[in-house]
Amino acid sequence: MKINLEGKKALVGASTQGLGKAIALQLASCGAAITLMARNEEKLKATLRDLDTSFNQKHGYIVVDFYDFNDFEAKTSAYCKHKNIDILINNTNGPEAGGVFEKNIDDYQKAFDLLFKTTCHLTLLAVENMKKNSYGRIINTASLTVKEPLSNLVLSNTMRAAVAIWAKTLATVIAPFGITVNTILTGLFDTERIQQLNKIQANTKGVSLEENLKLMTQEIPAGRLGKPDEFGYLVTFLASNYASYITGTNISIDGGLIKSL
Ligand SMILES: NC(=O)c1ccc[n+]([C@@H]2O[C@H](COP(=O)([O-])OP(=O)(O)OC[C@H]3O[C@@H](n4cnc5c(N)ncnc54)[C@H](OP(=O)(O)O)[C@@H]3O)[C@@H](O)[C@H]2O)c1
Repeated sequence: MKINLEGKKALVGASTQGLGKAIALQLASCGAAITLMARNEEKLKATLRDLDTSFNQKHGYIVVDFYDFNDFEAKTSAYCKHKNIDILINNTNGPEAGGVFEKNIDDYQKAFDLLFKTTCHLTLLAVENMKKNSYGRIINTASLTVKEPLSNLVLSNTMRAAVAIWAKTLATVIAPFGITVNTILTGLFDTERIQQLNKIQANTKGVSLEENLKLMTQEIPAGRLGKPDEFGYLVTFLASNYASYITGTNISIDGGLIKSL
């Protein structure tokens, strides 16, 4: 099985490091032309240089802040007027950590804008052209919190579940057009986000960073954090022709961490 994405255009969110970057690298190595999104233009340019161009594909980027929805909407709408998206990776930075009594209604609104509104807006834009081309892949990066809420991540628990059920609803109506929509339930991957969450947890528990990371890792049956590349492989498979019959699913990638079915 060889994945060939030559001629496909992919828009990948939050892609200058971590999971987003791993996805962009892998899609590009299979031939897709990538448009990256993040805030820091220098990091975007550096990531652009790391992307494979052996299929003569042209990569680009959009400077966006997912927290500034009006600006995000304007920039992505302008982009979609001139460019098709064949593969849409709805990935943003993670929402703030915190428990149910630490967050107020404005925090929920902010998390809704970050995780739900960006996904909904971009997907509806992209689907128009995907329908015309009878091909589309929409892949949402979510979290294991969809299945098993974590007490210190109430914003993630809530908004990721909203994205997952919305994606499921969408999948049923766009399947006839050759468009698939899937949501990934991410376990614990070795990225900056996990380092930040480790710091918060270690402070709360009053233990060292190393100690907390060890406790975190002990919970994972595979005995280690996931590698971003492993995440990129899954997304690239879902983006390919080989995954044309997989839609409306929540797919876990977690080294066995999720305990429920
Ligand atoms: N890593 C895990 O174990 C894990 C587990 C479950 C869920 N997830 C979710 O997966 C997603 C990706 O996580 P990750 O671990 O890859 O994160 P990460 O390593 O922290 O990377 C974050 C990326 O988002 C960009 N970014 C940050 N704030 C932004 C903003 N306001 N607007 C636009 N771009 C922004 C960053 O670039 P700039 O700073 O240049 O903008 C960077 O490219 C997150 O939603 C996270 O919650 C991750």
